[in-house]
Amino acid sequence: MSQDDRSSLLARAAQLGSRYLEGVADRPAGATAPGKELRAALGGPLPEAGTEGLAVLEALDAAAVRGTCATQGPRYFGFVTGGSLPAATAADWLVSAWDQNGAVYALSPLVSVVEEITAGWLRDLLGLPASTSAGFVTGAQMANFTALAAARHQVLRNAGWDVEANGLPGAPAIDVLVSEESHYTISMALRLLGLGAATARRVPSDGQGRMRPAELARMLTGTAGPCIVCAQAGNVNTGAFDPIADIAAITRTRGAWLHVDGAFGLWARVSPALSGLVQGLETADSIATDGHKWLNVPYDSGIVLCAHPGAHRAAMTLAAAYIVADAAERDPHEFVPEESRRARAVPVYAALRTLGRDGLIALVERNCAQARRMAGNLARHPAVRILNEVVLNQVLVRFEAPGADADVLTRAVIAGVQAEGTCWLGGTTWHGMAAMRIAISNWSTTDEDIDRSAEAIIRVLEA
Ligand SMILES: Cc1ncc(COP(=O)(O)O)c(C=O)c1O
Repeated sequence: MSQDDRSSLLARAAQLGSRYLEGVADRPAGATAPGKELRAALGGPLPEAGTEGLAVLEALDAAAVRGTCATQGPRYFGFVTGGSLPAATAADWLVSAWDQNGAVYALSPLVSVVEEITAGWLRDLLGLPASTSAGFVTGAQMANFTALAAARHQVLRNAGWDVEANGLPGAPAIDVLVSEESHYTISMALRLLGLGAATARRVPSDGQGRMRPAELARMLTGTAGPCIVCAQAGNVNTGAFDPIADIAAITRTRGAWLHVDGAFGLWARVSPALSGLVQGLETADSIATDGHKWLNVPYDSGIVLCAHPGAHRAAMTLAAAYIVADAAERDPHEFVPEESRRARAVPVYAALRTLGRDGLIALVERNCAQARRMAGNLARHPAVRILNEVVLNQVLVRFEAPGADADVLTRAVIAGVQAEGTCWLGGTTWHGMAAMRIAISNWSTTDEDIDRSAEAIIRVLEA
């Protein structure tokens, strides 16, 4: 392959990517090609002879229009899916072009320094102590895992046990308490850490999914020994926040480690109007969040923050003679489970630098106002019941009409909206009731997109 071939391939990829993005707002919000069609277009036996790179790109692009979900578009409200800011996407392309291994400073001074700068900006934005350590991982799942590994290290070390050296057999038991509404990735992290998903004690929550601090205090009364408490900033269904300041006061008295999973809700902290929801965050021992949700960084991007850099590093570091460490510089691998790794902080840096503090506040506040607008538009219809207090970017909707089974009707409306294509949203079960979940976390969503989507939902309901 010549230099020219490489340049034309990259130029074509940029063209195809741009064309894809230009059309994304006008395409059905969900994927329209079934797997069978995609397998037929792209599959078959591995070719013996190689195929031209351009032809491979064209084939992928042709399948992408119908085979991808328009998650980059302004009316994709499924799961909690951020779009990607143009500068973050472009910076991510650079990351691929550079192909840096962001494990240690010696492998890429740039990556290490960009991580350091980005970590500083995040501490500033979130109002966290300057000593807070940061790791850039694949998502909130790995951020939760890394944070809880640091927690496991510290609470066992306090009990005189070196878990990194000796593992868990014979270790003092750790009392883990999670909200009954905690995200399942907390359970997965506990499972991977050998702490068990089912052994965690589940603290009751209120009608919005917020942990009840009084219940936590009751469950901790009279207990001693290693203890970890997991709170949540932003319930995946309702957007509700556990009262972190109250929970922190209780965990401090008990000498427990407090972890906060703020996969998307954490970003409320940047807005003066919303930061009260995340009051007390600065006292947490560890925090997990995502870049690829509300910060609108492309997949995959997660961030772990830890108030105890020593514990964070101890849980993640294992020295090897050939890994050159420069004591004066920061080695990113000391804060994450991976060794060789993509330069994940670079698109986060690009997102933060292009938005600035004001831009990020505006993005978060706009999406929250749009969630209220969506709830208001839908609630005008007599068959619509909004199940949550719309405190953030999540709207939980149920459809109830005389003579209809509300679960059946709600699931039918969700399926109908997905097929209709104006917008895409998913379903859930909330307190035993089928419900539609609407999550608004895209920089390009306009109020007009909200109104158009609400009209489409009502049209499907009435049909
Ligand atoms: C509260 C919470 N925690 C963790 C996660 C997992 O995030 P990820 O899929 O980025 O690992 C999510 C995803 O929606 C979430 O809402």
